Amino acid sequence: MSTVLAGHGLVKKYGSTTALAGVDVEVGERDSLAIMGPSGSGKSTLLHTLAGIVRPDGGRVLLRGERSERGGAPAEGWGRIDDLGENRLSALRRARFGFVFQFGQLLPELPAEENVALPLMLEGTPRRKAVERARRWFAPLGLDGLESRRPGQLSGGQAQRVAIARALAVEPDVVFADEPTGALDQATSEEVVRLLTSVTREQGAALVMVTHDPDVAAHCDRVLQVRDGRINGHTPYTVA
Ligand SMILES: Nc1ncnc2c1ncn2[C@@H]1O[C@H](COP(=O)(O)OP(=O)(O)OP(=O)(O)O)[C@@H](O)[C@H]1O
Ligand SMILES: [Mg+2]
Repeated sequence: MSTVLAGHGLVKKYGSTTALAGVDVEVGERDSLAIMGPSGSGKSTLLHTLAGIVRPDGGRVLLRGERSERGGAPAEGWGRIDDLGENRLSALRRARFGFVFQFGQLLPELPAEENVALPLMLEGTPRRKAVERARRWFAPLGLDGLESRRPGQLSGGQAQRVAIARALAVEPDVVFADEPTGALDQATSEEVVRLLTSVTREQGAALVMVTHDPDVAAHCDRVLQVRDGRINGHTPYTVA
């Protein structure tokens, strides 16, 4: 497996709470990783730390294809992202990562296609071109014909599929999803996770997903169990 993103020795504390107590994790190209564990065990903190949203107090996060600002990367072609400045980090998140959250967090006043186009526009793609590119994601996600609907006119499952399209629109290296099916019923959740894993893989991106649902986790190549900020065990790699 060719690694694209790695966390080494990750520690994160909030006051007297240790959310991450030294976590090592590697994410491969096209890998899909489910993070499971009890409430408060550190799953979201781990996802946010790998995604450059939360800064660790210890350890480092490494991304392939980045240059370190201050050195300290293990090899050519790798860069630390945990110590980047805020501007560079947010530019990197926009360009290389996609995000899907429990409640889609679509902008209610924008049509679905413009919600999907938004990350492209933030990257500097002109509006018309961005919307054109955004529309290409609708058919693969089973959203044909819903391009001009506003989020309030979509079902929960459709809204989550629009959120997946938005995450994939910039053709990211890694998609991060925190409880992407948490607000959906079982049948819808099954359909959404099936599309999330398959379309992400086809696009060539890796997936890091937090879920409480073992049926959802089963769609991933690997499952990581987190408990008290530590990794308890994981299923072996099933990717080549
Ligand atoms: N911003 C914060 N400030 C203070 N404490 C925090 C913060 N974020 C997380 N924590 C604490 O860190 C620990 C891990 O939280 P985290 O959100 O990572 O858990 P989780 O596994 O995602 O839980 P859940 O399944 O409920 O979403 C918890 O004890 C939580 O209260
Ligand atoms: Mg959480």
